[in-house]
Order: sequence, then structure tokens, then C-alpha cells
Amino acid sequence: MKDLIISNLPASYPWQGNLYYFNTIDSTNTRAKQMAAEGAPHGTVLIADRQTGGRGRMGRSFHSPSGVGIYLSMLLRPGCPAKELMHLTCAAAVAAADGIQAATGLRPGIKWTNDLVAGRKKLGGILTELSLDSRGNVEYAVVGIGINCNQSAADFPEEIKQIATSLQLVTGKVIDRSAVIAQLLVALQNMSEHLQAPAATLERYRADCITIGQEISVVRGDEVRHGKALEVDSEGALMVAFDDGTRQAVQSGEVSVRGMYGYI
Ligand code: BTN
Repeated sequence: MKDLIISNLPASYPWQGNLYYFNTIDSTNTRAKQMAAEGAPHGTVLIADRQTGGRGRMGRSFHSPSGVGIYLSMLLRPGCPAKELMHLTCAAAVAAADGIQAATGLRPGIKWTNDLVAGRKKLGGILTELSLDSRGNVEYAVVGIGINCNQSAADFPEEIKQIATSLQLVTGKVIDRSAVIAQLLVALQNMSEHLQAPAATLERYRADCITIGQEISVVRGDEVRHGKALEVDSEGALMVAFDDGTRQAVQSGEVSVRGMYGYI
């Protein structure tokens, strides 16, 4: 698989020598963080055929069976203050959409902040994790991407069957995972070169974001608030007009979109 991925990469891709492939791993993000702590360089990439402990946002798991999905993490050392990387998850979502589109022709939507969606179902997700030094500078960032590629509807476990989809289900074609991975790596490398210019990236994010204009609910702990998603701001936060008349930028928490993932 690693050779196939490399054969799909353009000669201009600079980080071929820092590409690690695992048949089975707990989580490519977890391992990338370990390797970062041991000094692995900017551009290190970990790819797995299967994860036994794939992780998503909000402490959730990411179902990562063998042979059908893409599970990859890229380690970046952007050398900037964390406050300049507020948009990193948005940038990674746009890069993931770019990579998928380049390889398959399908451009997924993005459900704020980090879900890749198609046909109102979840195609994959992004998990970004940062390590900061004592002055608030980024020691490293790990960008993790998981994409459902060749699952049939019956392949998804019961708890996500209604909300999950795959590239094969959406396009009707068998997906060449190595081709998608190669395009993801190209898109992520491109993203890493433009991290200091968030405005253009966020403009592209807004164009892909299916949450804007929708009725949503925001869950924080026991509190559930309803409102309408207005806009994604200059740091990637979601501006919400809540039904109680207040407006707030939502940076974290679970945002459900009415009509998706079983929220009616
Ligand atoms: C989410 O849906 O909340 C994000 C899912 C991110 C999954 C990817 S798979 C590769 C990397 N390793 C992980 O453990 N998680 C990310």
C-alpha cells in the first residue's frame, strides 16, 4: 500500500521520506503525537489500514475497520502562536474536501466544524490536536483525517448506520484508497504552506459549509440551546442567533443541524 501511495504522489511532494504505513495501530493521531514528542519532523505522515482506537472529537470513537477506510495523520510544526491557528480544523476540512474532489470528482460538504458530509450523512471527520509551549506557541499540530471509502450500508455498525455513508455509496464507484490518500497529502501540504493566510481558506470553508443558514442546536454538557447558524467568523467560529435573542460565536461544543444525523 505504501508503494501504491507513493506511486500516486507527484514528484514535487516533498515529504515522501517521512511517510509511515501501519497495518494496525491504535490511533494514527496518538502515535503521531508520540513521534512528535520524540522529534519527528514537520510533514511526517502516518497512515493505517485499521485503527483499534480511532478517536473523534468530543471523546468519541471513530470506527476504523480494515480495508475500507482512510485513517491518516499529518504532523506539522508551523512555528507560530496558537492564536494564529484558530482556523486549523477548518483549513484541514477544506484540504480534505480538495483531496477527495481531486481523486473522485465528488466535493463533500462540511458540517461545522469538522465533519465531511454527502447526502446529509457523515463521510468522515477531522481531528486536530495541538501541543503548545509555555509561551503559547505551537510545538506541533497533528491533523487527523478519517474517511469512509468502500463501506456498503451493511458494513456500518448499528449505532452509526443511519448517519454514516462512504465515498463508494455516494459515487457508485469502487474507491482507490491510495489515489485518495495521495491527493489528501498533496492538499494537506498545500494547506500547510498557506496557514498564515486564513482569510482565503475561510472563504472556501464558508462555500463548503452546509451548516450556515440552518436551524441548529448547540449542546454543552447538560445545556441544549436552539438557534440559527448565521456565519463562520474570521477565526472559524460559528456565529449563532439563538432563539432567546442572543448572538454568540460558538467555538466548541456539539452542533447538530436540523434534518441531519437523526435530529428532527
Ligand atoms: C470526528 O469525526 O470527530 C473526527 C474523526 C477523525 C478520525 C481520524 S482517523 C485518523 C486520525 N486518528 C484518529 O484516531 N482520529 C483521526
